[in-house]
Amino acid sequence: MKKVTCFSDKHYTLGRIDDKLYSSFTEHLGRSIYSGIYEPGHPCSDEDGYRKDVIELVKELNVPVIRYPGGNFVSCYDWHDGIGPKENRPKRMDYAWASIETNEFGIDEFCRWAKKAGVEPMIAVNLGTGSIKDAGDLVEYCNHPGGTYWSDLRAKNGSPEPYHIKYWCLGNEMEGSWQAGHLSVEDYTKKALEAAKIMKWVDPSIKLVACGSSYDMLPTYMEWDRVMLTDLYKQVDYISTHNYTMNAGQGLTNYLASYKQLDNHIKNSARVIEYVKGKNHFTKELKICLDEWNVWNFQDIKLNSLEDLKELTTFEMTSAKKWEIAPGILEEKYSLLDAIVVGGLGITLLNNADTVEIACLAQLINVIAPITTVRNGGIYKQTIYHPFHMLSKYGHGLTMKAVLNAPVYTCEFGELPIVEPAVVYNEEAGEVRVFVLNCSQKEEVSFELILQGYGETKVKEHYTLAGDNLEVRNTLKNPENVTMKRQDVSGYSGTVVPLPRLSWNVIVLECV
Ligand code: AHR
Repeated sequence: MKKVTCFSDKHYTLGRIDDKLYSSFTEHLGRSIYSGIYEPGHPCSDEDGYRKDVIELVKELNVPVIRYPGGNFVSCYDWHDGIGPKENRPKRMDYAWASIETNEFGIDEFCRWAKKAGVEPMIAVNLGTGSIKDAGDLVEYCNHPGGTYWSDLRAKNGSPEPYHIKYWCLGNEMEGSWQAGHLSVEDYTKKALEAAKIMKWVDPSIKLVACGSSYDMLPTYMEWDRVMLTDLYKQVDYISTHNYTMNAGQGLTNYLASYKQLDNHIKNSARVIEYVKGKNHFTKELKICLDEWNVWNFQDIKLNSLEDLKELTTFEMTSAKKWEIAPGILEEKYSLLDAIVVGGLGITLLNNADTVEIACLAQLINVIAPITTVRNGGIYKQTIYHPFHMLSKYGHGLTMKAVLNAPVYTCEFGELPIVEPAVVYNEEAGEVRVFVLNCSQKEEVSFELILQGYGETKVKEHYTLAGDNLEVRNTLKNPENVTMKRQDVSGYSGTVVPLPRLSWNVIVLECV
């Protein structure tokens, strides 16, 4: 059996975890909205057509913020199409996903749903095909109390009270040619700066997220951020970046090590923020908004590696037949292994809590998502639901510095300790919560926690995500093939915890 020691001292913190680390994202894409969160006539739907079974799970997941309406979709979207009497709303071609957008669901429906689900909306404006005036008008429609054209129209459309939307994204992935209305960094910077100006004039209390770069295969990776931030640093509050992990023939060891790839990705964004800040003598802190992250295996189409993606337009990345309404595309069926990897990515988020303030699991329902609904049918939790749920339940407080004494394994990122932990101290509950990925594929690991300054500590709970069949998935018929398993800790010796081979674990210790 391999042995690992993990030291943590109460005086050494890495950063305070923002609750917004467990946010999510829903896009007008496939069945994310239609027959996802909204399905009038479904036996579980309420008077507004919102599926109550979905709302229940969203509440259980404890998601604080949800980004909407895209994604790539937003760069083709005219928000005016989605307001007013439904019978007057136009059907449009959505170029991003080659689907038909009926516009039955728009900003009012989303904000009302968000209220019912107890989540805060984060709205992306269209800086691709949209204008800066459209962006300003949308802020006015949502946030201005009344007495102007757009705010009065909101009241007329059924919402006299403003929505008070705080978080606004200045476009989506504007660096990429797949984006409708894609811009060069110089053009994006000019447009985003003018949009930011207008939007803040309308409501100075809003927080703005600028598009940073997300894809390291693009020649503009990081250089985009440097150029853009030099001019936008003072106007914005966050820089957005996206990161998807894919099980694409890199082998089990490298796939498990994806947490390191995400760590490198986040640290690159943090480095460019620091560079621009230092170079220009800025004093303000700018945080990262990782507003899309997840495992995405492109199960819709057959891919051999990430390289295959380079030549594809977004709709070639799906099985869409073209111009259908809410087609069932990008409906990943996640395995136990994917869930363990998602858990590992969550550990990286915790260990970067000093720079990442908002992170959105992409997405929430049906499309690369933890929750799957059946049209006119039931609902079930994908495997990845479980680690995300544990993170949003236990990952609050301070991320502490963890020092390891551990054997190493070799992967494409070099030599890494055989386990990857994140130690969280929750002062309120008087608990230390340790999230740990065991990358040892053949052997159990004896994981000893040496905790200083927390008083006497006792293992109270231990949950594991593990199993012999890594390919097992949840289905509507067998929704509990993969869940977290609570271990009996009564026989544990002090703070030594056995970690099953290839597992993701949550250990809760009480400070007595
Ligand atoms: O989440 C799916 C897509 O991934 C989003 O629309 C886009 O922003 C990203 O490329």
